[in-house]
Amino acid sequence: SNKALILVGGPSRGTRFRPLSLDLPKPLFEVAGHPLIYHPLKAVAKVPSIKEVYLIGYYEESIFAPYIRQWSTEFPQFTIKYLREYTALGTAGGLYHFRDAIMKGNPSRLFVINADVCCSFPLKDMLDMFEEKEAEAVLLGTKVSNEAASNFGCIVVDPKTSQVRHYVEKPESHISNLINCGVYLFSSSVFSLIRSAMEDKAIRLASDPTLDPSDGDTSSVLRLEQDILGPLSDSRRFFVYETRDFWRQIKTAGSAVPANALYLQKAWQSESNELSQPSAFIVPPVYIHPTAVVDPTAKLGPNVSIGPRAVIGAGARVKESIVLEDAEIRHDACVLYSIIGWQSKVGAWARVEGTPMSVTEHSTTVVKNGVRVQSVSILSRDCKVGDEVRVWNCVTLPFKELKRDVSNEVIM
Ligand code: GDD
Ligand code: GTP
Repeated sequence: SNKALILVGGPSRGTRFRPLSLDLPKPLFEVAGHPLIYHPLKAVAKVPSIKEVYLIGYYEESIFAPYIRQWSTEFPQFTIKYLREYTALGTAGGLYHFRDAIMKGNPSRLFVINADVCCSFPLKDMLDMFEEKEAEAVLLGTKVSNEAASNFGCIVVDPKTSQVRHYVEKPESHISNLINCGVYLFSSSVFSLIRSAMEDKAIRLASDPTLDPSDGDTSSVLRLEQDILGPLSDSRRFFVYETRDFWRQIKTAGSAVPANALYLQKAWQSESNELSQPSAFIVPPVYIHPTAVVDPTAKLGPNVSIGPRAVIGAGARVKESIVLEDAEIRHDACVLYSIIGWQSKVGAWARVEGTPMSVTEHSTTVVKNGVRVQSVSILSRDCKVGDEVRVWNCVTLPFKELKRDVSNEVIM
């Protein structure tokens, strides 16, 4: 059998997702009606050979416990557990730390998935390639623009065989626009590679007095990308499966808006019964939580998610946006390219707006009046926008009240 490991990180990470990650870990933020990591779990459930899933991170156990209980019932196909690192051990250090638990039952293959990516997770296609090529590792790749490429791990591939020739994490100069999507399939022999990377690192540390173990330069902190994938590309048994489907990384809070749009579009294409039916007032795809109260004269969509107990008033217009739990949008207000936080209120005839961006673009900022700002507008938890007030490309910290028009600002 096979296992899936999802790297969820911990509280010191996800800083670019602030202010939305102030109260809730980024992997649990809801897009298209579900926490971010629900989407890869759903893909894992479609692969019958995966019997166990571990979430690996350094958040407290209690944060994931209620979710895990719920997912255990929803996905009887696999068992799911949270494995907590005592400190951030890096993307490979955590795997190594839990190697005994992971190798229990002798799984032959391991999927490793970054929690902060949004894609269709073509796990079955990766497995097929793995078998066909008798691989040791298969990496999910996608092509991005030359400008975007250097923010990711870059792959030089043999186009005939799909073999990885070189792998460079976030290179300083351009080497390729085929990038690492953060989804891997490894044979269990990956642990011997991690072990030798760890030994090499211990030797380097011992011989270099400028490295300070208290800065995280200890041999137990290992990065999959720098310490493992490089050596793997010498093995000739490392392949890349290129997805033609959508892919986005979720780093900034604003990137939740395109991720929401992409998952809603996917659900719409697969005729998911979670979405609302089209009408004069619903432009699909739209997700409305069953407990939300939406006035029949409000117009929603496309690419809108409305959370639990949210209230949308008469004549309101919501497009390309996420409205979170218990938020309220009063009558005739307009919300475009925005995120409305938990318990926030948008007054009557108010406008909360961001700038339209293509979902295929990997940047979440725009330059307005010579200043670089977030392309979306974000109200965090418990914010209030007064009646008729206009909020344009602003990020608002929790508990703020906006009584005047604001644009291109972070409101603290
Ligand atoms: N458990 C655990 N422990 N998880 C971690 C740790 C750690 O110490 N450090 C990072 N993670 C998790 C993060 O939560 C995230 O899901 C994933 O590992 C990768 O995070 P980063 O290390 O911040 O890397 P990145 O996102 O900048 O880049 C990676 O992903 C890109 C695709 O999104 C690299 O793999 C790139 O090559 C790749 O292109
Ligand atoms: P953001 O915080 O939104 O940027 O999300 P992130 O998860 O990508 O982390 P970030 O980009 O802030 O991390 C910047 C660098 O700091 C990365 O190269 C990480 O290796 C490092 N880093 C972040 N958090 C930790 C941590 O808890 N421990 C260690 N050792 N390094 C970390």
